[in-house]
Amino acid sequence: MDELFSEVFKESEIFANREVLSQHHIPQTLLFREKQIDAIVKVLTPSLRGERGRNLFLYGKTGTGKTSCMLNIIGKIKELPISKSRISYINCRIYNSRYRVFYKLMSDHLPMYAKRGHGITEIYERLINWVEEDGKILIVVLDEVDMVKDLDDMIYTLTRSNSDIKSGGVTIVGISNNISFKDELDPRSLSTLYENELVFPPYNSNELSAILKDRAAAGFKEGRIDQEAINLAAAIAARESGDARLALKIISVAGELAESKKAKSVTAEDVSQAAKSAEEDIAYELLNTLPEHEKLVIYAVAILTMQGSKYKRLIEGTDTYIFSGEVYSRYASLAQSMEKEFKTTRWYRKCIIDLEMQGIVSTYESGKGIRGHTKLIKLVYPADKIKATVEKSLFKEEMV
Ligand SMILES: Nc1ncnc2c1ncn2[C@@H]1O[C@H](COP(=O)(O)OP(=O)(O)OP(=O)(O)O)[C@@H](O)[C@H]1O
Ligand SMILES: [Mg+2]
Repeated sequence: MDELFSEVFKESEIFANREVLSQHHIPQTLLFREKQIDAIVKVLTPSLRGERGRNLFLYGKTGTGKTSCMLNIIGKIKELPISKSRISYINCRIYNSRYRVFYKLMSDHLPMYAKRGHGITEIYERLINWVEEDGKILIVVLDEVDMVKDLDDMIYTLTRSNSDIKSGGVTIVGISNNISFKDELDPRSLSTLYENELVFPPYNSNELSAILKDRAAAGFKEGRIDQEAINLAAAIAARESGDARLALKIISVAGELAESKKAKSVTAEDVSQAAKSAEEDIAYELLNTLPEHEKLVIYAVAILTMQGSKYKRLIEGTDTYIFSGEVYSRYASLAQSMEKEFKTTRWYRKCIIDLEMQGIVSTYESGKGIRGHTKLIKLVYPADKIKATVEKSLFKEEMV
């Protein structure tokens, strides 16, 4: 064998199974989520029995286990011996319009009819007839539902189908990490969707430690990562956001670092180093998925942070806070320079709340004194890197 490829077949000294540590792995048991899982199953029980049930909405910050819990439950539902229900899991980041969602339902359940070119009405009617055939319940799980462009239309069509269906019905489970999602919905869709809602709280440091310990036991070889390293990764992730995805990413990257150094085990130092790059990676991935105007707002904060205009900047320790009003004016002029209509200040206030929730900025309400009550904004990650990332994704199309 060529020396060049010797690494390919070499067994890892650190990892037993890297896949278990990946964010795509769905663990058999989800720690600290019994209450949520029980509650979801309870709400879905009538639907599983073939009776019309209630819709359900799950929300909570990123990495709090919403997708994992739902996929775990779906796996178990699919093992049930008989059920008058059918279930579809739809990732709305991919199926991001009413048409795509309906097309996905069609290809899940009536693949023989799923041909391109069918209009929405035809798909809708076929699905309704299929539900009515034997009065089944179709459970539609819409993960990251806020990504659907024509959200109101989609929810309206799905919920309205229950008045067209004579026997059987459709139950919706919506999932979102955007707490202000509700404000975007038409009150008419809101009232039909929100029959039950469940919040997934962020994990604290002890919970993250236990989650990591569980995954590390399968992911790492015995004795290759110690408790101290795990606790540190958990503490860092808990401090940032209570995000289990971040905690997992930190220990995987730490494992890679230890491996590349040909070390015997993962140390707390590897974890600190990994934490830095893992947090940044996650933030940059997230930036790429933001809608255009949110990107412009972040871009404005990054530019102002780097320029640090003389009198409007506030230095708190080593952190640079920027006045919220200043960010808005910069955003507005950026939008104008791109010949886009800028959004209202009301939209902007909500946007900042969303960005804070996603862990991209942090804000601080100044007390009286600095121009009355005003909001100060700070980037969580280095401004130059944020600026470069946003530039790449924002101006990509304009440059070609
Ligand atoms: N209670 C838990 N026990 C074990 N692993 C968990 C738990 N909660 C989350 N995880 C792991 O953390 C990662 C992120 O979880 P998940 O994707 O379910 O989060 P989410 O709430 O859907 O986040 P987002 O809002 O970003 O989609 C996954 O790898 C998952 O396996
Ligand atoms: Mg998710």
